Amino acid sequence: MFETLEDVRRDCANRLIRAAKDRKVPMHTPAVVTSDVDARTMVLREFDAEAWTLRFHTDTRAPKVAAIEADPRMAVLFYDKGAKVQIRVRGTGRILRDDPVTQAAWEKGTNFAKRCYLGKGPGAVSQVPTSGLPAAFEGVEPSDEDLHPAWDNFAVLLVELEALDWFYLAHTGHVRAQFEREGGEWKGRWVSP
Ligand SMILES: Cc1cc2nc3c(=O)[nH]c(=O)nc-3n(C[C@H](O)[C@H](O)[C@H](O)COP(=O)(O)O)c2cc1C
Repeated sequence: MFETLEDVRRDCANRLIRAAKDRKVPMHTPAVVTSDVDARTMVLREFDAEAWTLRFHTDTRAPKVAAIEADPRMAVLFYDKGAKVQIRVRGTGRILRDDPVTQAAWEKGTNFAKRCYLGKGPGAVSQVPTSGLPAAFEGVEPSDEDLHPAWDNFAVLLVELEALDWFYLAHTGHVRAQFEREGGEWKGRWVSP
């Protein structure tokens, strides 16, 4: 099934493409790791298989945004228990604020999803359990006009991949391969699991 390094690299690409499109697969919500030694679950919105870039959406006020802007080294961890495949990737993060890519992503979202960017920023302290949302929009879809202030809080995170580590669990013996990108070309090797 995975006889050549090219088979494995294609498997990585296919899984990432599917992970972005299919909210039911476990790889849709990877752990995203920043250089400040922190990790969090995020929804993978897109995988550009030409540029080998992951796209995520986030709030400009989230602590991870400042961490990425201070040091853009990142890792993202995907695991699909059913498929018995782990994919670890490393790359460089870039936060896009007021940008055509950000604008296109914003326009595609529903008003209900955009509502999250209307509230207090992630990590804002409260004396009581809170969604951080203005009371008027708790469970209520805002209008386009209501959402104007939310746009300023919306950002795209792109992670340009530079290294891949693919691990397949098998009774007959696990299999693992690594790839690094040099000058746009991926160079792979088999490694012991
Ligand atoms: C299933 C799930 C999906 C999430 N998706 C996102 C997301 O797409 N973008 C995001 O910024 N935070 C997302 N979060 C929230 C983050 O995990 C995190 O709590 C928040 O972004 C604050 O992170 P920070 O303090 O590291 O900046 C998600 C959480 C869960 C549980």
